[in-house]
Amino acid sequence: VLAQDLGISRSTVEAAYTQLAAEGLLQRVHGSGSFLRPPRFQGAVATLPLRLPAQLSARGREVLRIGGCLDPLEPLPFAAGSPDLRDFPWPTWERLARRRAPDAAELARYQPPQGQLRLRELLAEHLGAARGVRARAEQVLVLTSSQQALHLLAHLLLDPGDCVWVEDPGYRGASAAMAAAGARLQPVPVDAEGLQPRPGLPAPKLILLTPAHQYPLGVRLSPARRAEVLALAQAHGSWVMEDDYDSEFFDAAQALPALQSQDADGRVIYLGTFSKTLMPSLRLAYAVLPPALVEAAVASRSLHDGHGNGWFQALVADFMEGGHYASHLRQMRAQVGERRQALLEGLARHLPWAQPVAPQACGLQVCVALPSGQEVDLSRQAARLGVQTPSLAALCALAPLEGWLLGFAALRPEEIGAALRRLGGIQPRGQAREIAKSRPTTLRANR
Ligand SMILES: Cc1ncc(COP(=O)(O)O)c(C=O)c1O
Repeated sequence: VLAQDLGISRSTVEAAYTQLAAEGLLQRVHGSGSFLRPPRFQGAVATLPLRLPAQLSARGREVLRIGGCLDPLEPLPFAAGSPDLRDFPWPTWERLARRRAPDAAELARYQPPQGQLRLRELLAEHLGAARGVRARAEQVLVLTSSQQALHLLAHLLLDPGDCVWVEDPGYRGASAAMAAAGARLQPVPVDAEGLQPRPGLPAPKLILLTPAHQYPLGVRLSPARRAEVLALAQAHGSWVMEDDYDSEFFDAAQALPALQSQDADGRVIYLGTFSKTLMPSLRLAYAVLPPALVEAAVASRSLHDGHGNGWFQALVADFMEGGHYASHLRQMRAQVGERRQALLEGLARHLPWAQPVAPQACGLQVCVALPSGQEVDLSRQAARLGVQTPSLAALCALAPLEGWLLGFAALRPEEIGAALRRLGGIQPRGQAREIAKSRPTTLRANR
């Protein structure tokens, strides 16, 4: 009857009844019919609270308190840190993907936790040539992100209460990963020469650095400070974690080789990511580990998430091997340079009260200082105009520096200009002359 009513086949109705009976919702009585079955635990289910309170471990409670980190989902002006995927060489990528199609079944299998050997070899070669990193393929660990590297290595290297020096201001994703592993964070101020270690700081188990292009201020660790940090690390027996997050966007003349290249005794861990150079959702990044750490890091990775995506590792290796990565980087460097110039000129024209904290000659974002006491108010006004202005003060643990970290790389020059013209409508409080006096126009070296 039901099959006729619904105009479907008898076997479909039979299959549905069989399924409902299997789930315990129908009772079928031979020769009598099918009957709805009352839920068996109705009373008990009704009295259960909708959400059980989370019974978290102390570590879990700490993770909840720290709150994780979220990257911007859309590259709106001026969200920090996204590349422009509109200009990605998609035809090349698609051609390489099609060429890989016959290997789909093989690439869909479980993969080595350390990453595919060919990709590790290509990375070792590329990082040696581009950044002076001293790496053999055996030292390279392919991961989903720098964030995974930070989290994984923090748990591997730190005991609860261990001291970690973090740059201040600094990258929240990194310090949060250290704190979640139970570390005691020691903020160390950054001046025009980068991290500025001072006497009397507690001995670090690990020093976290962005030496090539300090996040967020954009200064580089000077040669003298590099030597100082390495000597300190040696004296204290500390690990150094070098987050080289955007150095592929430097001209060779601007970049010093990676700090890892100066490491004489195997204490520098080098981290890099494809999130900016290729695309964020690829979820591919890499660590170059001191040989002594490889076995433990690979074991830890296998426990974390097993391994990375086989298909994308093969595709990225093809992209590198065919020379497409090198030419994509060259094009991006030129494009990002042009966009940075558009941002700096636009700032000078439309926002004379928001100027770079230091000369900004590389990278994907520009850090500007704001008139003192006005960051919150100016950001609120910018938000009303539909412009995001990531806060510099939010990245400080010591005395807050007021400013914005403006991500521009995903925006075309005309989009940068349009957003800056909108921001130009904002008026900071006070007279222009007073503002100029109160604003720290450039960071100074503080020796
Ligand atoms: C300083 C720094 N390190 C690491 C990352 C994260 O890269 P990934 O996407 O590989 O986690 C970012 C991303 O914005 C960053 O700014």
